[in-house]
Amino acid sequence: MSKIGTDLNEARTHLQNGRLIAIPTETVYGLAANAFDTDAVLSIFEVKNRPAFDPLIVHTATIEGILDIVTHLPDKAWQLAERFWPGPLTMLLPKKPSIPDLVTSGLPTVAVRIPDHPLTLQLLKSLPFPLAAPSANPFGYISPTTALHVEAQLGSHIPYILDGGSSGVGIESTIIGFQDDTPTVVRLGGLQLEEIEAVIGKVATTLHSSSNPLAPGMLKSHYAPRKPLFLMDNDEIQKQTPSDEVGYLFFEKPADIQRYRNGYVLSEKGDMREAAYHLFDYLRTLDTLPIREIWAEMLPAVGLGRAINDRLTRASVRQMDDVH
Ligand code: TXA
Ligand code: MG
Repeated sequence: MSKIGTDLNEARTHLQNGRLIAIPTETVYGLAANAFDTDAVLSIFEVKNRPAFDPLIVHTATIEGILDIVTHLPDKAWQLAERFWPGPLTMLLPKKPSIPDLVTSGLPTVAVRIPDHPLTLQLLKSLPFPLAAPSANPFGYISPTTALHVEAQLGSHIPYILDGGSSGVGIESTIIGFQDDTPTVVRLGGLQLEEIEAVIGKVATTLHSSSNPLAPGMLKSHYAPRKPLFLMDNDEIQKQTPSDEVGYLFFEKPADIQRYRNGYVLSEKGDMREAAYHLFDYLRTLDTLPIREIWAEMLPAVGLGRAINDRLTRASVRQMDDVH
């Protein structure tokens, strides 16, 4: 079992000694290690059971920290950095040799981000190295948004979980790259596409699977509960008699919600931010209920709705379908 607490000294000591700890961020909890320490980074892949071809995000507290690990930022990256960091945005930038190849799975770019969480920012400021941190879940499973989520799955592997409460955004950061000077979003996330486009103009999106070299970790099946999850239109759900053997995940509150024994509502008033905040927590809860399967409703495909739909779609793909 890991210790759960808010002691920054204890957190720092573990990291300085090459050990992994979980850290809170505004998106999801991360499984963190000294990004310059290859052995520590290797343990991240082992603990998560993560394939070595799936690179990690490196976190710093300041732009100066970012400039220690990347060669430069294109103009549009500067504009985004100034506007959205600290925040739920990750940028793919050309790496300096100080970042081990293991962190980037051999790619010439490193994924970097300044997370917007007071405890983690304080921790990062007190460390002489940046933190490599993927989401703190076993590979392919739902990302954790509380210390208890981390404890439930990785508790036996890590000594300490820094408890920063529940993650306010609730889904992972948006990832953008600048290959060939074309800003391209490779993962939808907590920062809306519309917000990015308001600053740098139209961006491309390539949200692919493992066949996409730009985001090798974006497997078709991801964020997945163990129970089968089916995407349904609200109409389709309403047409059928509610079953106690099914868990339902609604976006807004249906008028007949009391007919569903296992009915969860992401946001009673249909607010997408609130829906993102609840998404992974409710999926985890549904996964523990004595039900056969989960039926989830898609959100309107705008703003955070797109990022949530992406998570639901990947959660609905069975591992067996993900063989390429
Ligand atoms: O919100 C977040 O981004 C959280 C918190 C902890 O910061 N982290 C997170 O990390 O979601 P992870 O490892 O679960 O997802 C990172 C994604 C992976 O799909 C990986 O393939 C992609 O980022 N990635 C990392 N480095 C990359 C690179 N150099 N080029 C392309 N994709 C990269
Ligand atoms: Mg992840």
